[in-house]
Amino acid sequence: MVHWTDGERKEIDAQWKKQNMTALVKEGLERMFCAYPWTKRYFENRKNFTVAGHAKTVSDALEKAVKNMDNIKAQFTEISKTHAEVLHVDSGSFHLLTDCVIIAMASNRKPHFSPEVHYIWDKFFKVVVAAISKQYH
Ligand code: HEM
Repeated sequence: MVHWTDGERKEIDAQWKKQNMTALVKEGLERMFCAYPWTKRYFENRKNFTVAGHAKTVSDALEKAVKNMDNIKAQFTEISKTHAEVLHVDSGSFHLLTDCVIIAMASNRKPHFSPEVHYIWDKFFKVVVAAISKQYH
């Protein structure tokens, strides 16, 4: 099980409430589509897809992880299966989105996005990426 310090839990909980995470995920998606254009191909045939709508879907899933920090893996079991078996998303690309969300967060919080804060969010998103990659065989 992942160990979270009190400081890490506090940062994640407080910032989650303070930031508009849906807006940050939207910016992260836009950055991913621009910096890594091949990632757009997964979304091309999805009916009714909008970046804003998808940002809300992803942000809601992340919120469940924030509220269950000690069991993030379980939050992503079905989502992981969907990405692996239905969407066929390359598991090596998950970090592209989470890295882009971290960049969005950093540019919105400057000058308060310290190296320590960066470390905490990087740790959180690494756990999310490991959880969403879990059902790949
Ligand atoms: C770790 C970051 C990610 C999280 C937390 C995440 C989360 C989600 C969630 C919750 C859904 C909805 C699943 C459902 O309706 O059953 C979804 C759908 C989807 N995801 Fe991800 N995802 C991530 C990364 C990615 C990446 C990197 C790609 C492709 C490059 C991707 C491609 C898709 C596609 C194509 C859909 C379906 C969209 C639609 O039908 O409108 N995801 N994702």
